[in-house]
Amino acid sequence: MSGRCTSRQNENDQSDGNQAEGGFESLRWTSADVIFTDSPWNLGNMKSFYTKAEIGFPDIDRFDSFYKRLFECIGEIKPRVCYLEIGKEFLGEYLTEMKKLYKQVTFYNSSYYHRSENMCYVVQGSQKRKNWHYDGMDEEDIISAIAQNEDGVIGDLCMGRGLVACAAARNGKAFVGTELNPKRLAVCIERLSVSQDASDVVS
Ligand SMILES: C[S@@+](CC[C@H](N)C(=O)[O-])C[C@H]1O[C@@H](n2cnc3c(N)ncnc32)[C@H](O)[C@@H]1O
Repeated sequence: MSGRCTSRQNENDQSDGNQAEGGFESLRWTSADVIFTDSPWNLGNMKSFYTKAEIGFPDIDRFDSFYKRLFECIGEIKPRVCYLEIGKEFLGEYLTEMKKLYKQVTFYNSSYYHRSENMCYVVQGSQKRKNWHYDGMDEEDIISAIAQNEDGVIGDLCMGRGLVACAAARNGKAFVGTELNPKRLAVCIERLSVSQDASDVVS
């Protein structure tokens, strides 16, 4: 299996007093052609990820501080196409933000863990029209299809258990990603290193 993978823990320095932008300020991205990210869906969800990561929570009390920084990162990276998974609560806001970056914006009804009751949405932004038919597919199947259909480096700003990284590796695509939680990142790198030459994984 080929494909180069670069992953990094989000270097959130709790002491730098600069967390007001939502915890993404220390990301140092080079580039990605395609992004798929399933980031926290609301403030409560975000807090639970910080608690699990044993990282002090940024000094924010509104979720828009987080997702605005997320879209700022995407604006800096400028992927050709961007997919963001989100729940119903902030779907409208994500569509609005995506339209500021991309001419073509749509969303797909989706689910997670292959359970139809676990509803979510995948918002897609691109400069050119895309004729993919991802509506009704589980997130995992959408991620696999993206890794098959899209060319170039695939990125994920919130790697979690590594669905996107593994799909990229399975399809021989280069991958770049970040993850807040060092333990989650370690598990993800372990999963990747058994599916490809460990020397090909950089952390
Ligand atoms: C819903 S999960 C990701 C699901 C992912 N697609 C997977 O394969 O598991 C969200 C992830 O975002 C991470 N996260 C939360 N805030 C973050 C931040 N500021 N920077 C990077 N990762 C973050 C969490 O630790 C968590 O692993």
